[in-house]
Amino acid sequence: MSNPWQEIKLDDYENHMSLENVYQLQVLNEMMGEQFSAYDATSIMILGIAGGNGLEHIDKERIKKVYGVDVNQSFLSACKKRYEELGDVFETICADLLEEGLQLPETDLLVANLLVEYIGYECFQKVVGLVKPRYVSCIIQINTGDSFVSDSPYLHVFDCLETVHHQMEEDRLVNCMSEIGYRKVEQLEQELLDGKKFVRVDFLREDI
Ligand SMILES: C[S@@+](CC[C@H](N)C(=O)[O-])C[C@H]1O[C@@H](n2cnc3c(N)ncnc32)[C@H](O)[C@@H]1O
Repeated sequence: MSNPWQEIKLDDYENHMSLENVYQLQVLNEMMGEQFSAYDATSIMILGIAGGNGLEHIDKERIKKVYGVDVNQSFLSACKKRYEELGDVFETICADLLEEGLQLPETDLLVANLLVEYIGYECFQKVVGLVKPRYVSCIIQINTGDSFVSDSPYLHVFDCLETVHHQMEEDRLVNCMSEIGYRKVEQLEQELLDGKKFVRVDFLREDI
């Protein structure tokens, strides 16, 4: 079965996310710089990488491998073109995380920003179990109003995502990670312009 994210155009996503009254792409960019430098990881996997926002913060002196995973191949092609300077350090993986039989390489740090919303907690547990990261850093969006998409001329482009969207709660994410042996080590909040907020929650694997 196809995933509705395969129908979304990168321009529509990025134009919407960077609108003056949305301003989420810019906020995420800054938060990603902090995620990449927070831990002593030399390999990173970014789930739901879209157009590669934030990749300019990858420090090639320290980071030896970055995997960008997404279900939309055209997003990944754009990433590769935009970040040619990363060379072999940056590898893309086109995969639907919801599919059975998924295989992924292992990395030190797993980053999932505005992604758990679209795969749900259970699938996220499965993915973490495959990648076996030491650190996990997630940004989730907490909504105060009815809509998970901010008002914009692009609003209806995202109607098809209603079927796969899950409302996020910090506590449920923390519980779901604790069930698979990860303990919360950091929680940071960033207010957004329209009453929504981004919450970054980081986890450490407990068996090391
Ligand atoms: C809301 S966007 C977030 C993009 C980026 N992380 C950001 O913060 O701007 C969700 C991304 O996850 C990808 N995605 C959604 N469901 C997916 C799935 N089941 N498997 C792989 N990628 C998925 C989408 O194609 C999209 O690029």
